[in-house]
Amino acid sequence: MKPLVSVVMGSDSDLPVVAKTLETLKKFQVDYEKRILSAHRTPAQVTEWAAQLEENGVQVVIAAAGGAAHLAGVIAAHTILPVIGLPIPGSSLAGADSLYSMVQMPGGIPVGVVGLGSGGAKNAALLTIAILALQDDRLKAALHDYRQEQASAVLEKDRKLQGEL
Ligand code: RP5
Repeated sequence: MKPLVSVVMGSDSDLPVVAKTLETLKKFQVDYEKRILSAHRTPAQVTEWAAQLEENGVQVVIAAAGGAAHLAGVIAAHTILPVIGLPIPGSSLAGADSLYSMVQMPGGIPVGVVGLGSGGAKNAALLTIAILALQDDRLKAALHDYRQEQASAVLEKDRKLQGEL
């Protein structure tokens, strides 16, 4: 079966951050394709690829980019699929530039943007899974379990802390 999720990044230098996204998708057994395509360095390929996403059966796109981060916006301009922008902190502006680039889309072409860093990378995957879970009971149950396990882990740390003081 073709993957329902496309994860695209502007450069292989984004991979250390994107790794958390891929790891989280894997944890939930969600198949994905991963690509390196750049809005600035490979503009023709991005346009062609984005225009075919829908007919290729993709349901959600995660687009990671740093600096003048136009990748998510350009993809969103060529598809009606939900596009999640993952801003990469790597530039001399520490990611503020990529975050601002992604959240300033003009009305009519939406990009949903997650936060910077490892939390954002994980949340890009979790948000994608939440979208897929609307029509997938296995993923719905897995997300409920995940929240439960997460809460239990925090409470366990709290109990441990009480014992230590
Ligand atoms: C962006 O430029 C990429 O997403 C990357 O975050 C940044 C720098 O790319 P490299 O010069 O490291 O390839 O398009």
